[in-house]
Amino acid sequence: MKSNIKDKLQKIDKDHYTLLIDIGKVSKEEGLKSYLVGGMVRDLLLGFDNLDIDIVVENSAKLLAEKLVKKFPNCELSAKHDRFHTAKVIFNVNGEKIPIDLASSREEIYEHPAALPKVSVSDLKRDLYRRDFTINALAVSILPEDFGEIVDLFDGLLDLKEKKIRILHELSFIDDPTRIIRAGRFACKLGFEIEENTKRLLKEAIDSRQFDNLIEKIRGDRVKIEIRYLFNLPDIEHAVRTFFNLGIYRMISIDLESRRDVAYGGDVAYGGDVAYGGDVACGGDVACNVSTGWLIYFALIIKDLSSDRQEKIMKNLQLTADEIKIIKDGFNALNKLKEQQSVDSVIIYHELRNLSAESICIVKMLYGINNFIDEYIEKTSKIKLEITGQDLIHMGVKEGKKIGEILEQILEKKIKNASMNKNDELAEARKLI
Ligand code: CTP
Repeated sequence: MKSNIKDKLQKIDKDHYTLLIDIGKVSKEEGLKSYLVGGMVRDLLLGFDNLDIDIVVENSAKLLAEKLVKKFPNCELSAKHDRFHTAKVIFNVNGEKIPIDLASSREEIYEHPAALPKVSVSDLKRDLYRRDFTINALAVSILPEDFGEIVDLFDGLLDLKEKKIRILHELSFIDDPTRIIRAGRFACKLGFEIEENTKRLLKEAIDSRQFDNLIEKIRGDRVKIEIRYLFNLPDIEHAVRTFFNLGIYRMISIDLESRRDVAYGGDVAYGGDVAYGGDVACGGDVACNVSTGWLIYFALIIKDLSSDRQEKIMKNLQLTADEIKIIKDGFNALNKLKEQQSVDSVIIYHELRNLSAESICIVKMLYGINNFIDEYIEKTSKIKLEITGQDLIHMGVKEGKKIGEILEQILEKKIKNASMNKNDELAEARKLI
């Protein structure tokens, strides 16, 4: 692999490329050294699109941010965190907002495991050393004189080539246990292997039990972000197996031990179909989207816990009210259906009609194979009456609740007999008035 990737940078979106050049020039003018780092470098080298620009500045991000804002009228400061020595600027390029994260090269000191780090300004090497994996610890200079030159201090290029996830130091997982999830995520996503020593240290960290029920001890949102990434991967079966095999589940709740079997049962695959198959729009017009699709698998995993425990986990993971609703609506509908002796298309219609696409996916995955649910997704949810309340008013029904009730009864008929046309609907209405 090359040690200069100017050619690859030239192929990214032109506006982003120009910004990198401009930021490099301003850095030079101010006597600062700036490097592109993190996921964008990794993905560029792997040939994936990634335009999340993260820049490390040796050594004042704040100064560079101020100069950029001064020099470019289309650049504004969007955030500045003196404590973390970071700043974010946003460039407005022809109406498109391009955010750029700037961080002073820094060193992090963890006062106790899993704590938020104390940060002090340092040089590039220390900055890279504090990172998670060698493949994420590559930097690329953006200064005019050596634009595109790779700084590879920890053999990240070799690990990219050999498809290895390798941590940089022995305490990496102890300092930041969310890296355990990230190791699994990158392994799944990139088809890489977790290198032997890294695997051993990961296992030791899990086996030490200090991260059991972690979300009760630290802010759960960082864990949530990583779980969301993991369960949004296209190969969901692999992701769920990784969740259990690496022991990631223990960080959510050790009670999930009993759910190991989901990774090997058919449910996940069945769910995979639901969320990633051709018919993602399982609730009619609504589609499961990237930010919520993961909840379907999360629901599958917590489904057998007591509702108190589920509630606590969702709260500790800092799920939003909307996310909690998706899961609870799915579970509630599922329970109601399970109470029924038998179901038919009308019962399914009543239980599913107000649910989001994701909640419907949860029901579909957990109820087991049921043709009426498939029929709801494919057909029933799309059935509409041709007549409206106006038609009933013309027929002499007074405005009010009654109109809705009659329309509902006709719709139920139509669900059972989709071939009904407008005349059939009117005939039905006459019977009911
Ligand atoms: N990082 C880290 N430890 C973490 C999270 C992040 O060392 N727990 C570092 C890594 O160097 C990573 C960079 O911060 O590359 C940016 O993190 P993030 O944006 O979360 O991930 P990316 O690597 O950019 O990957 P992706 O865009 O796929 O999430």
